Amino acid sequence: MRYSDRVDDLKFESKGRNDFVSDVDRAAEAAIIQELKSRFPSHAILAEESGEHGSGDFVWIIDPLDGTTNYLHGMPQFAVSIALKHKDQLECAVVYDPMREEMYTAARGQGAQLNDRKIRVATRQSLEGALIGTGFPFRDQQHIDAYLGMFKAMTLTTAGVRRPGCASLDLAYVAAGRTDGFWELGLSPWDCAAGALLIKEAGGTITDLSGGERFLETGNMVAGNLKVHRSMLDLLTPFLNDKLKA
Ligand code: IPD
Ligand code: CA
Ligand code: CA
Repeated sequence: MRYSDRVDDLKFESKGRNDFVSDVDRAAEAAIIQELKSRFPSHAILAEESGEHGSGDFVWIIDPLDGTTNYLHGMPQFAVSIALKHKDQLECAVVYDPMREEMYTAARGQGAQLNDRKIRVATRQSLEGALIGTGFPFRDQQHIDAYLGMFKAMTLTTAGVRRPGCASLDLAYVAAGRTDGFWELGLSPWDCAAGALLIKEAGGTITDLSGGERFLETGNMVAGNLKVHRSMLDLLTPFLNDKLKA
């Protein structure tokens, strides 16, 4: 937040095509890692900018600044996303939107909250009238044609599609019932681990594009309440090529 109103002075570099990292990403990540290491010295860490630290059954998955492109343009849609995984289970999640002071939290088996209020996914029963979040493929464009087919079908079937530019908040909004569903291709674990637990604990469903559990591995995902999720999968399936089915 300290730098958010003077982004013009910020140094940033390109990690790849349309993929930027700034001093803010790195400083936020270092602060989070320092805090976690001091409290949980034996736990491992997987962080977007500095990679893996240590190994073990407990892994903290960290995106210190999700929505860097928004942040660097002064667009107020970005967040911090942190999840704790134990073996194959997501145990705890936090997604924090510092602009709105909205803190989304979840612990496995204990529900999900927005600040101190319990949240649930929306109750909509079909795609008619639904508001759906997504992310456009802007870095890796191998699936752009498949994606545009999906986008057209979703636009023609629902009340609208939104691309806010911060996947962790997109998922948190499904958990909070602000959007009815979400899909995106090619996300990384730090973009979605916390948001996935928020959705599950808010009574929602999140899967890969084949309806399986491998969304953290494939980076491709669909989320919503049970009915919306099913309808989204049915609508997206005709556009899947062999790579996206895997
Ligand atoms: C990005 C954002 C964006 C999503 C990208 C992510 P970053 O994260 O979550 O919404 O579409 O795929 O990489 O790079 O700003 O941390
Ligand atoms: Ca991210
Ligand atoms: Ca990031």
